[in-house]
Amino acid sequence: MSTEGFVTIIEPFRIHSVEPMRMLTRAEREERLVEAGYNLFALHADDVLIDLLTDSGTGAMSSEQWAALQRGNEAYAGAPSWFRFEAAVRELFPFRHILPTHQGRAAEKILFGVVGGPGRVVPNNTHFDTTRANVEATEAEAVDLPIPEGRDPANRHPFKGNMDVAALEALLAERAEDVPLVMMTITNNSGGGQPASLANLRAVKAVCERYGRPLFIDGCRFAENAWFIKTREEGYADRPVPDIVREMFALADGMTMSAKKDPLGNIGGWLAVNDDDLAEQCRNLEILTEGFPTYGGLAGRDLDALAVGLREAVDEDYLRYRIASTKYLGDALQRMGVPVVVPFGGHAIFIDARAMLPHIPPLQYPGQALACALYREGGVRSCEIGTVMFGRQADGSEKPAAMDLVRLAIPRRTYTQSHIDYVIEVVGRVASKASELVGMEIVQEPARLRHFTAKFRPLT
Ligand SMILES: Cc1ncc(COP(=O)(O)O)c(C=O)c1O
Repeated sequence: MSTEGFVTIIEPFRIHSVEPMRMLTRAEREERLVEAGYNLFALHADDVLIDLLTDSGTGAMSSEQWAALQRGNEAYAGAPSWFRFEAAVRELFPFRHILPTHQGRAAEKILFGVVGGPGRVVPNNTHFDTTRANVEATEAEAVDLPIPEGRDPANRHPFKGNMDVAALEALLAERAEDVPLVMMTITNNSGGGQPASLANLRAVKAVCERYGRPLFIDGCRFAENAWFIKTREEGYADRPVPDIVREMFALADGMTMSAKKDPLGNIGGWLAVNDDDLAEQCRNLEILTEGFPTYGGLAGRDLDALAVGLREAVDEDYLRYRIASTKYLGDALQRMGVPVVVPFGGHAIFIDARAMLPHIPPLQYPGQALACALYREGGVRSCEIGTVMFGRQADGSEKPAAMDLVRLAIPRRTYTQSHIDYVIEVVGRVASKASELVGMEIVQEPARLRHFTAKFRPLT
């Protein structure tokens, strides 16, 4: 679908079935917040009007995907659905071994269950929370090595998801023997949904090769990353997105995937590796925890839906709309003076809560305060990505995260432009009374991944 100079963003699909939403009153929302211990993960989704908590598994499937579900074959081993899934994965990610999993973190658990362990260290541009937790659960160390621009919400570097190659080199020069693999997360979710360039991937690969270390890609948002390469990196404007994807992944020795993101699934994932020995060890663990390696925790119909979703994910009309609609939200917030991470990421707009609420210190969780305010104001659910998520250290201490962000993640093909206009209005109202917001304290937290279940109290 060419834009032919029109500025209106048109969703490249019609609505095929509808899901009603309901609006609570402000008083009801306040009540729900108290009941949820001010943790938006504890809300009933029916009490949320616009749900921007995550883009993970929340997208709408296409009519072709729903049709594919009907083709699902539920044979325990060697189902045709598996072969269709494997072929679709291999078309874009040509790895020797593909191990399906029920979601991304299952792939991480299997991988780090094999290569992690005490004394090991895993570098990443920025670990996503489940990746970090899976590395640390084996008592290995997770080290983030983003480029310095990636830690500055206002810096306009086009590839803020890049890894700091010099820092990687320094780490490997000192501890290569302790590094089982180097990982790149694309796009870099925790760093603002920012892409990595092919030039950076190539430079990281060159360092990995010098030290004989494998490179793995956490590829959840591979298609959005490829679109940014196409539109921002010199020499790729005329290359089809699937070719760019293949070029990215040809540099890697393996990957983990949450198919709940760019592959347009509501569930699913995989681990892929080239090394036969590693594949064997991972497969043994997979059988223990996920299931037989031709279904890996998924129904045959899920595998079929993903096979179709993968092809739709690299459709350029879809990607143009996807990135343009994210930018639409970011542009509007910027025009209202709301501090947001720039350039805009692919799957979400990240509000810089630390800059928006300078009167709330990081250890009073400005991101959590803002996320609760957005729900209270208009029933919009977002997600804190900051000190609540990353502040608790492996040694039990607490320190401010590099940034305190609130992520407005945009589910794929789910909300229309008028829904987003409403979100813009809600953020605008909260921004106009930002100085009245108060910080929060944690009254209860679990040992790991506290953001999912911690309980909070506003500081009055
Ligand atoms: C970059 C990244 N890696 C891994 C995961 C984990 O995937 P899942 O939620 O399917 O376990 C996520 C999920 O949000 C993610 O964004």
